[in-house]
Amino acid sequence: MTQALQIAPSILSADFSALGRDIAAVERGGADLIHIDVMDGHFVPNITIGPPVVKAIKRVATRPLDCHLMIEEPDRYIEAFVDAGASMVSVHVEAVPHLHRTIGFIKKLGARAGAVLNPSTPEGTLADIAHDLDYVLVMSVNPGFGGQAFIPNSVEKVRRVRAMLTAAGSSAAIEIDGGIDEANAAAVVAAGASILVAGHAIFGARDPEAATRGLRAAAVGSASSARA
Ligand code: DX5
Ligand code: ZN
Repeated sequence: MTQALQIAPSILSADFSALGRDIAAVERGGADLIHIDVMDGHFVPNITIGPPVVKAIKRVATRPLDCHLMIEEPDRYIEAFVDAGASMVSVHVEAVPHLHRTIGFIKKLGARAGAVLNPSTPEGTLADIAHDLDYVLVMSVNPGFGGQAFIPNSVEKVRRVRAMLTAAGSSAAIEIDGGIDEANAAAVVAAGASILVAGHAIFGARDPEAATRGLRAAAVGSASSARA
């Protein structure tokens, strides 16, 4: 698979009082997407961002908005997020009873559709729908918070997801989210991921612009030249 590498900084670890400034910094650093974590306090034990904030971000961001919905009953809100400016919408397999319908709905609204697997959810749940997916998001932490440690067997999980997609004849991209940093980026890309989400590693760094550049360089295996 030769999908282009995409770096997707997660604004969960940005300064919420200065989102425009922080988004501009990662865009200067070469961010391809802006990853927005939507949490409802039910599906995950944290509450974050809703459509009005996505709409405000849309006014300042120049890169596509990637909305990761960690909410119950996402069908009720998908249209509001697309209207607010989401170009990509992903829903958790664990939160959706009729995934085929939900994925079709996202695509009908004109957004790219993704299905998200929690660390404990096997990739086989997606085999029958692989063809319909634009991307699979592999969680490499339990969702809910930024700054958690990467679960090591996620590398193997990405490999299995890639094999499952290939067997199904699907060219869906694989996004990985949780604890991604310069130390593990190359391994997840080698396993088959092409969209790397990172929150703490980028916005927790002193210079998010340089950290975005550094993550890309690490992912393609040229970390040392990134710091030049
Ligand atoms: C976790 C979120 C992630 C999170 C990643 O529930 O889905 O997008 O922001 O943050 P880091 O990179 O800090 O693990
Ligand atoms: Zn996320």
